[in-house]
Amino acid sequence: MTDIAPLRDFVVAMTQLVGSTTDERTLLAEARPLLARLIANDRWLPEAWAAPRSDRYAQHLLHCDPLERFSVVSFVWGPGQRTPVHDHTVWGLVGVLRGAERCDEYTAQQQPTGRSHVMRQGDIEAVSPTVGDWHRVSSARDDGLSVSIHVYGANIGAVRRHRLDDAGRVLDFVSGYDSPSVPNLWDRSKAAA
Ligand code: FE2
Repeated sequence: MTDIAPLRDFVVAMTQLVGSTTDERTLLAEARPLLARLIANDRWLPEAWAAPRSDRYAQHLLHCDPLERFSVVSFVWGPGQRTPVHDHTVWGLVGVLRGAERCDEYTAQQQPTGRSHVMRQGDIEAVSPTVGDWHRVSSARDDGLSVSIHVYGANIGAVRRHRLDDAGRVLDFVSGYDSPSVPNLWDRSKAAA
């Protein structure tokens, strides 16, 4: 049984933050330490939201703000799994909870910059049309799973955004979610008892 409190605390703090400002720079700056605290340990993540898919990377919804001002998603990567080159169209923060991920950077014109970097447990980076929005993310492990926790400034699974196909054409896509449900943040019966 996991203790979901760190995720609940993060959701509460993010709800307060998106209620206090819509300024992207402030949101990215103030959400970063909240995400750092969330990914400082991985014991809160329920098993079902850390489950991989055999055919591709998995993305599980952990929480969506009722006003869709932000969403929290766990991404699970098996060896060799990777995203297409894609954008987000909204602000986002990516924090590595387990394992490691490789990020290949692209320009706003969808050209490879030739730069890539590896993110390891505890690392956080930002995306947005302002700070850089196009990339490809892949597992940086030859064995085992990697898990990252993402927070975006929208209900990201329902946002119409863009990816490149194998021929380099820009296509629309809506990512959706693999999880049919979200974790129960609100059973405080133990603490109440
Ligand atoms: Fe991304």
